[in-house]
Amino acid sequence: MRRPLLVTADETLLEELLRLAAAAGTTPDVAADPAGVLRAWATAPCVLVGDDVAARAVRCAPERRDGVRVVGWQADADTFRAALALGAEEVCELPRAESHLVALLLDLDDLGRAPGAVLGVVGGSGGAGATTLACALGQVAASCGAALVVDCDPQGPGADRVLGLEQEPGVRWDALVRGGGRLGASSLREAVPSRGGLGVLTWPHEALDGPARPAASPHAVGEAFGDACREAVAAGRRGHDLVVLDLPRAGDDLVADLAGRCDLVLVVVVPDVAAVASTQRTCRRLGETEALRLVVRGSGLDPAEVARVTGVPVAARLPDQRGLSEAVDLGLGPVRSHRGPLARTARALLALPEVGLVPARGRAA
Ligand SMILES: Nc1ncnc2c1ncn2[C@@H]1O[C@H](COP(=O)(O)OP(=O)(O)OP(=O)(O)O)[C@@H](O)[C@H]1O
Ligand SMILES: [Mg+2]
Repeated sequence: MRRPLLVTADETLLEELLRLAAAAGTTPDVAADPAGVLRAWATAPCVLVGDDVAARAVRCAPERRDGVRVVGWQADADTFRAALALGAEEVCELPRAESHLVALLLDLDDLGRAPGAVLGVVGGSGGAGATTLACALGQVAASCGAALVVDCDPQGPGADRVLGLEQEPGVRWDALVRGGGRLGASSLREAVPSRGGLGVLTWPHEALDGPARPAASPHAVGEAFGDACREAVAAGRRGHDLVVLDLPRAGDDLVADLAGRCDLVLVVVVPDVAAVASTQRTCRRLGETEALRLVVRGSGLDPAEVARVTGVPVAARLPDQRGLSEAVDLGLGPVRSHRGPLARTARALLALPEVGLVPARGRAA
C-alpha cells in the first residue's frame, strides 16, 4: 500500500492521525516540518497537513497537487486561508471528520482513479435473462478493467454459480452485513471471490441444514442489507471500472433506491404480450428515472412496439444464445465465445456513453 504523508508538529494531533491510519490499515510517513518533505509532498498518495504547520507549509510553496487536506481540532480563518493557499481539497476538523479520514485512508490505492460506471440489470418478467446478461456484462467488462457483479437477488441462482466462481474464496453478503460500516474500495475489490479482473458479491452458499439466504425479499434481513448494498455500490464504483447490479424484480423500496444509483438500468424484456405487460409494471415500480433502457431478448413483437408500449427506449437486441446452460454448467460463465450474441450485445451496451467502456474483443474473464 502507498503511504500517506502526515505533516504536523502537534503531538496530540499526530497521535490521533496515527490511530486513524492504523484503523485504515496504513502506516504514514511523518514529518514535523514541511520544508523537509517537499519531494514526498509531490509523490505521496495523499497529504494531511496539521493546522499547526499549515501557514509554514504555505511559505515553503510546495507543488500544487490533488489530495491535500488540512487537519486540525478547531479550524479558524487562518486555517482556511492556509488551506486555500495550499490548494487543499478540504479542511477536516477532528473528531467530526474521523470516519471520513479513515475512509479516505482506506481508499489510498484507488486515489486518482476515475469512478466506475454502475449498471443495473432487471428482468421485465420472470426468467427474462437478467442474471445471465448481468454476468455476461461483468465478464466482457473484465477484459478492459476491474468489474464487479453484485448479486442483489436472494431468489436467484447465485451470480458466483453462473460465473463459475462458486469455489473461489472470499467475502459474501453475510460477512458484509455483519461487518457494517464504511467499506474501502480496494478492500472490497480484494475481498470478494474473483478471477481475472472479475469479482462477484453474492449470497453465502446454502447451508445443508437450512437456507442461509433470507426467505423472501432482501428486506427480510432488514435495514442492514440495504446499508450493505448502498455501501457496496459506493465502494464498488470507487474501486472498479464497472459495477453490475443483478436486481430482483420484487419491487420494494430498496430496489428502486438501488436503481436510482445506477448510471443505466437495463430491463431485459422478452417480446411477447404477457412479458411486455409484466415489463410495464416492472418499469413503473422502478420509479421515475430517465436511466431505463430495454434489452429485447429473442424474437417476437417488434422492438419499436415494445418501446412504445412501455415508454422505455430500446438500447439493444439480444438474440438467444445456443449452448448457454452447457457453458454455465462447465463453469465458463455465459460468455463462452467473444463472437456469441451475449458478448456482442454486452460490448455494445458497455460502449454506450453512460458507461463508456470499450472492451477488447476476444478476451473475457
Ligand atoms: N441470451 C440468452 N439466450 C438464451 N437463453 C437465455 C439467455 N438469457 C437467459 N437465458 C435462459 O433463460 C433462463 C433464465 O435466465 P436468467 O436466470 O438469466 O433470467 P432472470 O431474468 O435472471 O430470471 P429471474 O426472474 O429468475 O431472476 C435460463 O435458463 C437461461 O439459460
Ligand atoms: Mg435473475
